[in-house]
Amino acid sequence: MDCFVISGGKRLKGTVAISGSKNAALPLMAASILTEGETVLKGVPDLTDIRSLSYLLEKLGVRVFHSDNGNISLKVEDEMNCHAEYELVRQMRASVCVMGPLLAKRGRAQVSLPGGCNIGYRPINLHLQGLEALGATVELVGGDIHLKAKRLKGAEIFLGGPFGSTVLGTANIMMAACLADGTSVIECAACEPEVVDLANYLNACGARITGHGTPRITIEGVSELKGVEHTVIPDRIEAGTILVAAAITNGDVRLSNCRLDHLLAVVDRLKAIGVHVERTTDGSVQVSSARRLEPVEMTTQPYPGFPTDLQAQMMALLCLADGNSIITEKIYPDRFVHVAELNRMGAILRKEGPTVIVEGVKQLIGAPVMASDLRASAALVLAGLVAKGKTTVSRVYHIDRGYDRIELRLNALGADIKRLPEKYADHQ
Ligand code: EPZ
Repeated sequence: MDCFVISGGKRLKGTVAISGSKNAALPLMAASILTEGETVLKGVPDLTDIRSLSYLLEKLGVRVFHSDNGNISLKVEDEMNCHAEYELVRQMRASVCVMGPLLAKRGRAQVSLPGGCNIGYRPINLHLQGLEALGATVELVGGDIHLKAKRLKGAEIFLGGPFGSTVLGTANIMMAACLADGTSVIECAACEPEVVDLANYLNACGARITGHGTPRITIEGVSELKGVEHTVIPDRIEAGTILVAAAITNGDVRLSNCRLDHLLAVVDRLKAIGVHVERTTDGSVQVSSARRLEPVEMTTQPYPGFPTDLQAQMMALLCLADGNSIITEKIYPDRFVHVAELNRMGAILRKEGPTVIVEGVKQLIGAPVMASDLRASAALVLAGLVAKGKTTVSRVYHIDRGYDRIELRLNALGADIKRLPEKYADHQ
């Protein structure tokens, strides 16, 4: 296992290109199961999660070829195996997005029910409810969900749960409904840009989807989809993380390949904190920050609200604000594993239910801390960038799941992060 050793206090400056979106690429890759012929996805980030899904798809009979330039080609060669095993689903929960495509195209799917997750309870009841509404039979056998349907039938499906809609649930139902008989309507659909990207890809393949990007998506079933070439949207969470990295180091950074229209809630909070974010004439985004950071209140919400995937990173920034901030998590009320670790670095954070009160401090102090989920790890790296002295973030495999060589990209902006095998960390 590797760790990051970060020497804090370096101001970030320069330009960075944002990678393709992990959370858009994963369902796009799964959608290849639905198609005849070859799909080429351009701008896919090189991440552990992408490799894990490639491995699963290969087991499911899809030939997956990664080229050096970030393109992936996918082509179904064998439709026999429909089983996503526990070993794979356990490693990556997003594997559940093969469920809808397998069922729609092959008439059956056997997918291990995902177990516990370190960001809190994450059921898939809405996915199953939606597939059942399309006519599938659903059975739980030995920890695996067995789904069957000769041919799915269009239906009206409500996908709202206690925390709003479901992103991968919407993706699953939308993919399945593409090959159903008749018309389906998803009410309370997720509006996230990753769902829109998937719908755009499916439409290019021959699907008939309208309303994507709104809470009501209509899908007219078709008999066949053909693989096409598609460029994955930029990763709004990576972009948001870099915006915070610039802000926390009092830096001045330009982001290219960044969709600011996907980040309006984030920009709104950053501006309230006193961070300058603006679009440049060449379409890039420039971010710089004032020395004084204002405290704010913020709440995570489904898109277009503030994304839960940037809550931890914003908390790292607000640790240094001039006063008390309040952060409320409305998607995953237990997604706070970073709180105790940030407190080890001198932050003053108090958790009360799904809310954290952040008492601003003058300085964070480097310490050994442990990554335990992807975005929490990113927050610890951000805190390390500004902390006094040395911060060692262990278990960085969490961060490698979702950020493409983050240390090299931050170092190119002036950070000082070394990746080392954990056993050498103490000798640095
Ligand atoms: C996606 O997960 C993302 N993952 C997550 O990003 C992100 O945090 C999440 O959406 C919310 O934005 C991918 O896209 C691969 P949900 P997903 O179903 O789709 C509840 C990251 O760090 N719910 O939209 O699995 C659920 O418990 C990851 O990159 C049900 O109740 O999330 C949660 O409270 C982590 N029943 C809320 O809905 C269900 O059947 C939203 O979850 C499904 C979800």
